[in-house]
Amino acid sequence: MIKGGFGLIGAGKMGEALLRGILKAGLTRPEDFVINDINEARCKELAKELGVKFVARGEDVPEKAGCILLAVKPQDVKNVLSRIREGVSPKEHLLISIAAGIPIRFLEDFLKPDCRVVRVMPNAACMVSEAASCYCLGKSATKEDALLVEKVLGAVGKAFKVEEKYLDAVTGLSGSGPAYAALIIEGLSDGGVKMGLPRDTATQLAAQTLLGAAKMILIGYQPGQLRDIVTSPGGTTIEGLQVLEKGAVRASLIAAVEAATLKSKALGERFAEK
Ligand SMILES: NC(=O)c1ccc[n+]([C@@H]2O[C@H](COP(=O)([O-])OP(=O)(O)OC[C@H]3O[C@@H](n4cnc5c(N)ncnc54)[C@H](OP(=O)(O)O)[C@@H]3O)[C@@H](O)[C@H]2O)c1
Repeated sequence: MIKGGFGLIGAGKMGEALLRGILKAGLTRPEDFVINDINEARCKELAKELGVKFVARGEDVPEKAGCILLAVKPQDVKNVLSRIREGVSPKEHLLISIAAGIPIRFLEDFLKPDCRVVRVMPNAACMVSEAASCYCLGKSATKEDALLVEKVLGAVGKAFKVEEKYLDAVTGLSGSGPAYAALIIEGLSDGGVKMGLPRDTATQLAAQTLLGAAKMILIGYQPGQLRDIVTSPGGTTIEGLQVLEKGAVRASLIAAVEAATLKSKALGERFAEK
């Protein structure tokens, strides 16, 4: 068990999305949620809008909240950890970090011994409650902590438990993935415009097409099965697919995930030691 209340340090794009999702899911009452951000004016405005409490100092968050969400940029994590260290205890707190590339050991080593930590890799779709997130537990985190994290991440999308060694690949795939999807949508839209469709219609069609295909696969269609459903012999789709294969789209996607994974690994190595 941890003590009640939620806290958020870093109320930027991702922090705000998590905050909104948690409130919408009813995981806590707004008055039991405290938020802190270096940008006080914006944070106060957000607190007012959502009915949560603003605290001016990060070090005051552990006093008010058992579940602390850390959503500052990776380079600011050290600063925040040194502020909250004194207030975070193994019995009363769970720290959930979404900072890309910051290893669990770095977080644990900064806090008092046996403090409970969970590292999460979410993605930008948190902002529309369709995140694909992965999480891994620190050495002192409990099964109850895992359930709480599933609830938190479930409030903004889907969550999968993985071993920490996979988080760089997760970063390269789903962390960066919304940008890849945006590029694919843009390309399809350009194709539609080239063939005479108005831009807005083309972009809406491209985005809705990716959404529809994704939904079919998520309910159980295999990607190859879906491709075969659409691809009739001698028809239009096989013409398009041949062009995509010639352009090495599949190989490019594989290489993109690989490159982003390696970059995530390299960035993370900077934090391997305190
Ligand atoms: N965006 C994504 O797609 C994505 C995906 C996966 C993971 N993440 C991770 O999520 C985290 C947040 O990313 P984001 O895109 O939400 O960044 P963001 O919009 O820049 O939000 C970070 C917030 O933290 C504030 N901040 C900086 N130092 C602080 C401190 N010492 N105490 C309190 N607040 C502080 C920043 O204020 P200022 O702006 O004034 O500096 C900003 O409002 C990052 O660690 C990132 O690696 C992001």
